[in-house]
Amino acid sequence: MDAYFFLHSIFITIFILLICTSIAYCNDDDDDYHQYLSCNSTYNCGILKDIGYPFWGNGRSQFCGYQGFELLCEEGQYSTADIGGQKFRVLDISRSAAAIMTIAPVGIWGQDACPVKFINISLSQSLFTLAPSAQNLSFFYGCPPQTDHIPVRNKFNCTINGSLQDAYFVDESLLRINPPNLTKCNISISLPVNQMAIEELLIGNEGVGITLNKGFDVQYTSVIINCSACQNSDGRCGSNFPSLEFLCFCPDQPYPRMCLKPGTHVYSFHINKMFLFIVFLCGS
Ligand SMILES: *[C@@H]1O[C@H](CO)[C@@H](O)[C@H](O)[C@H]1NC(C)=O
Ligand SMILES: *[C@@H]1O[C@H](CO)[C@@H](O)[C@H](O)[C@H]1NC(C)=O
Ligand SMILES: *[C@@H]1O[C@H](CO)[C@@H](O)[C@H](O)[C@H]1NC(C)=O
Ligand SMILES: *[C@@H]1O[C@H](CO)[C@@H](O)[C@H](O)[C@H]1NC(C)=O
Ligand SMILES: *[C@@H]1O[C@H](CO)[C@@H](O)[C@H](O)[C@H]1NC(C)=O
Ligand SMILES: *[C@@H]1O[C@H](CO)[C@@H](O)[C@H](O)[C@H]1NC(C)=O
Ligand SMILES: *[C@@H]1O[C@H](CO)[C@@H](O)[C@H](O)[C@H]1NC(C)=O
Ligand SMILES: *[C@@H]1O[C@H](CO)[C@@H](O)[C@H](O)[C@H]1NC(C)=O
Repeated sequence: MDAYFFLHSIFITIFILLICTSIAYCNDDDDDYHQYLSCNSTYNCGILKDIGYPFWGNGRSQFCGYQGFELLCEEGQYSTADIGGQKFRVLDISRSAAAIMTIAPVGIWGQDACPVKFINISLSQSLFTLAPSAQNLSFFYGCPPQTDHIPVRNKFNCTINGSLQDAYFVDESLLRINPPNLTKCNISISLPVNQMAIEELLIGNEGVGITLNKGFDVQYTSVIINCSACQNSDGRCGSNFPSLEFLCFCPDQPYPRMCLKPGTHVYSFHINKMFLFIVFLCGS
């Protein structure tokens, strides 16, 4: 009687333990599977559609993206991103393997040739680099009228503080030739622009502000490098929280690089557990 009672309580203990661990596992599995399912959703806002890793925001969870790639959908129409503390409007995200997006600083240019705000824009952040199509361009305002030696097509007018002043835009090669004259200008700013925008500025068809609000291209190739192996194994790219490391979400669990068992469904694990319960139930 005592021996029977002892055995019986051991079985009950094991049974309860199994249920507990199983429930814990189930919750983990559901979380993992939830992340896998959730990261199928894309970022959509205005003209930007079906945007995936490394971007997140507007309902697409942070764990489906990479830190520094949050997009805000403003007025349900256009997207902005914060890069190094400066707000940029995200005009385009290319679908090519080159990982290029077109961005324009917010709050710098209005419609005309004078900036609303005099600040330098540079990409000191390692996540983004200037695409080959973009280069730094310098703008000089409030220049003394006698600044010759700079081609007249690089010159434009800007009204600052109510007075019409001479201004210049100068690319890096021209800047190397003319620094002494340009240091006499009152204020200068430097920011990246696409080569095509420089050509449009030289033709002078459109205002400086309108041209520069078309943005410039940046690359983030190093960020998506880990993603292709994951996608090729039918996984969904994302990142860990809070360590922010790359993670590949798979139907069974997240992996550091790629799915190990493509096609394995999470419920096979549950069925194994269930089988164990039945064995133990029969045993007791
Ligand atoms: C993931 O999204 C694609 C396209 O939106 C859809 O065709 C597919 O059925 C989705 N898969 C899952 C598992 O939700
Ligand atoms: C922008 O950078 C240049 C070069 O470093 C500097 O001379 C200029 O004063 C800066 N302009 C502003 C508005 O900070
Ligand atoms: C543009 O300017 C920034 C800061 O002044 C510099 O770090 C970067 O190397 C420049 N980029 C190019 C392509 O010249
Ligand atoms: C530069 O700024 C000073 C002070 O704001 C002003 O007196 C001067 O006229 C400006 N120079 C030019 C060339 O506009
Ligand atoms: C700048 O203003 C002056 C005086 O109004 C004008 O003669 C000149 O054509 C203007 N230059 C440009 C590039 O608009
Ligand atoms: C415009 O005027 C203000 C106040 O006089 C001065 O602080 C500022 O430097 C001027 N801006 C430029 C670009 O000269
Ligand atoms: C501008 O620079 C050239 C040489 O680069 C020099 O000969 C000329 O005197 C300078 N002009 C002014 C107004 O500083
Ligand atoms: C890519 O993977 C390597 C090795 O797993 C890791 O060290 C690196 O931080 C990852 N890079 C990104 C941008 O996720």
